[in-house]
Amino acid sequence: MKAHFPSILLPLALGMVLLFSACEPDEPAPPDPMEKLDLTPYEVTLPPHFPDLVVPEDNPLTVAKVNLGKKLFYDPVLSVDNSISCNSCHLQENAFSDPNQFSLGVGGTEGKRQAMPIFNLAYNPSFFWDGRAASLEEQSLMPIEDPAEMKNTVSEVVNRLKASTEYTEMFHKAFGKDPDAEGLAKAIASFERTIVSHNSPYDKYLKGITPLTPSQQRGWLIFNQEVAECFHCHNGHNNTSYDFRDNGLQATYEDLGLGALTGHESDYGKFKVPSLRNLKFSAPYMHDGRFETLEEVIEYYMSGGNNSPNQDVLIRPFNLTNQEKQDLLAYLLSLSDEEFIVEEEYK
Ligand code: HEC
Ligand code: HEC
Repeated sequence: MKAHFPSILLPLALGMVLLFSACEPDEPAPPDPMEKLDLTPYEVTLPPHFPDLVVPEDNPLTVAKVNLGKKLFYDPVLSVDNSISCNSCHLQENAFSDPNQFSLGVGGTEGKRQAMPIFNLAYNPSFFWDGRAASLEEQSLMPIEDPAEMKNTVSEVVNRLKASTEYTEMFHKAFGKDPDAEGLAKAIASFERTIVSHNSPYDKYLKGITPLTPSQQRGWLIFNQEVAECFHCHNGHNNTSYDFRDNGLQATYEDLGLGALTGHESDYGKFKVPSLRNLKFSAPYMHDGRFETLEEVIEYYMSGGNNSPNQDVLIRPFNLTNQEKQDLLAYLLSLSDEEFIVEEEYK
């Protein structure tokens, strides 16, 4: 009798063969990076006077991404010669800005603008003094390739990260894939979004914890009245309208600001209105770091600017008594958050 191999058993037998060969000890199946993916959300607690963080739909905050972004932020591996990290120019004790007028990039190259502080950036519609980056994802890769900063290429950084077991693991956890440019941008952007500051004396007043001093209250009034005009440009929970204005600094334009991007003469000398939070730690001031102290800034605004071609109509001379100047200063300083600059979460 002929032994018939029942056709139903054939796929089964084949399956066994495949199964066994897959378990061959000398041929391990490559691990699936997706298996490591950890989507645990990262929670940011905000006070009632803050709107929700603005987070892009395709890059929700997760613990794995924020941890990876933080590690990258502090790692000189991003720079061409492994000499500087983001943190070299963005120091926490200085509200993540640089106490130097102009930051030094790789090889001691001096930049042309003052490094900006990093906090509450999730709300910003654009980034840099001239707004040339439309998102934090776009912004975060730019310093890597800037010749005056890290002088590297993103592809070189990705290769270095791929060569690191630790980084490869962290990318698998954060994105379920090997290191790539997209993950690099999304991780750094995620960390940046979690840096929030809302514990200044002014915030504590709004939270009902401690009242403002009489001097801070008088300063608030000066700031918000039509003589000094500050509030027209510096308003909202971050003291900025996020507009681009010329506050009259340059009699002749050395730095065109927004105008260099758009090419419109009417945009020459316009820069992003900065937040006035944490000024106590972020000197020097303005895009070119020309003022060392807030007293100088106040004197400057009182002088009415330098009649630059596109100077805003709101910048015109006004007088304050010595007491009023002190009060305005006291209000400005009430926006500085001593807790944020030592917060462990960002270290
Ligand atoms: C060599 C110094 C230097 C390094 C390194 C550096 N930055 Fe900056 N950063 C600056 C300067 C200067 C500016 C302002 C530049 C401009 O507006 O043209 C800036 C601006 C920014 C802004 C814009 C903030 C805003 O309010 O619009 C962000 C965000 C930022 N940097 C994050 C980073 C990150 C992330 C890294 C690392 C990947 C980094 N920086 C590396 C000097 C530096
Ligand atoms: C017309 C809009 C406008 C008005 C009014 C205005 N500012 Fe500004 N402010 C700006 C812009 C724009 C900048 C950045 C300019 C630059 O760097 O080129 C700035 C920068 C500053 C800075 C520096 C912040 C930093 O991080 O470097 C301070 C402090 C400041 N303003 C305080 C005030 C005070 C106080 C008043 C009222 C006396 C005032 N501003 C009125 C638009 C304005």
